[in-house]
Amino acid sequence: MSAAGSATARAAASATARAAVSATASRPIAQAPPAVAQLEGQAIVHDPGALRALVGSWRRERPGLRIALVPTMGALHRGHLTLCARAKEVADVVLVSVFVNPAQFAPHEDLASYPRTLAADCRALAAEGVDLVYAPNAVDMYPADFQTTVAVTALARGYCSLSRPHFFGGVAIVVLKLLNQVMPDVAIFGEKDWQQLQIVRRMVRDLDHPTEILGAPLVRDDDGLALSSRNAYLDSTTRANALALPRALARLQAQVAAGATDCEALVAEASAAIQTSGGQIDYLAIADPSTLQPLSRVDRPARALAAVFFGTTRLLDNVPLLGPAST
Ligand code: PAJ
Repeated sequence: MSAAGSATARAAASATARAAVSATASRPIAQAPPAVAQLEGQAIVHDPGALRALVGSWRRERPGLRIALVPTMGALHRGHLTLCARAKEVADVVLVSVFVNPAQFAPHEDLASYPRTLAADCRALAAEGVDLVYAPNAVDMYPADFQTTVAVTALARGYCSLSRPHFFGGVAIVVLKLLNQVMPDVAIFGEKDWQQLQIVRRMVRDLDHPTEILGAPLVRDDDGLALSSRNAYLDSTTRANALALPRALARLQAQVAAGATDCEALVAEASAAIQTSGGQIDYLAIADPSTLQPLSRVDRPARALAAVFFGTTRLLDNVPLLGPAST
């Protein structure tokens, strides 16, 4: 082919490509893209490219649309659904990601046995009026040659990192990937994972990510235990013992409200009560709510933070001290 002929062919190819792109852009949401499936009455997408195309088409068709993302690892309970309800209050469209993120599990941890209940999750999310579930596969999230890390340094020191040093690196990378893939206006995280929430806020701020991060209050079961997907691991005796954790934190909170300020004494008393019920303390501390620096006196708003093993199950909990109930 002559040079002129090949230029003509290139122009024709690029015109065809433009036509294909614009046909995709003008396709109604219901028909596009074909990778959207239904599971238990809930629209679900697995492929990151299909997700981008779908969100892109929403944004083109409805300028000014506000999109919320609720990242989860599935095995959903009322705590997660409260985050979805909050998302609906602040956005027009709610996406929930369900991805058991291998990067936040150490080799000896419960990645293999972590509860996976996608069909039931979709049923619950459909009932909640969630618009789309995004459930990527690990191979798409972490191809074999994946080699990037994200580290939020000071905030990830201590507390959950003491027994899970790999954990927040894994959380940061997956949350950043999800935010980049969806590019939501707002993402909702639970205060149940207080240190995680502070780390995500700081990462988004430090990296100039445009997504707004919103915290949602910790949701408890009727008996006071913080709702967690890992509560499924507790047998009835261990679960009864585990109530010592929320009770000890509630007592600590009441003592502070009544004027107690000595953190060492408060922590010692709460720890003793938990240990008496068979809990093995991973950490229990009183800290500044946003820097997470440990405090010696509670004379301003603070957070009591704890992780405790009951049997082999590690439970997290936290309560506000002297401050607003929620951020
Ligand atoms: P997961 O444990 O599934 O929790 C998903 C979200 O639900 C988190 O923001 C968590 O704080 C919130 N959540 C869990 N239990 C809650 C409760 N009882 N009350 C209020 N909110 C609650 O946290 C993770 O997944 C992952 O680390 C993730 C951020 C998805 C990254 O993989």
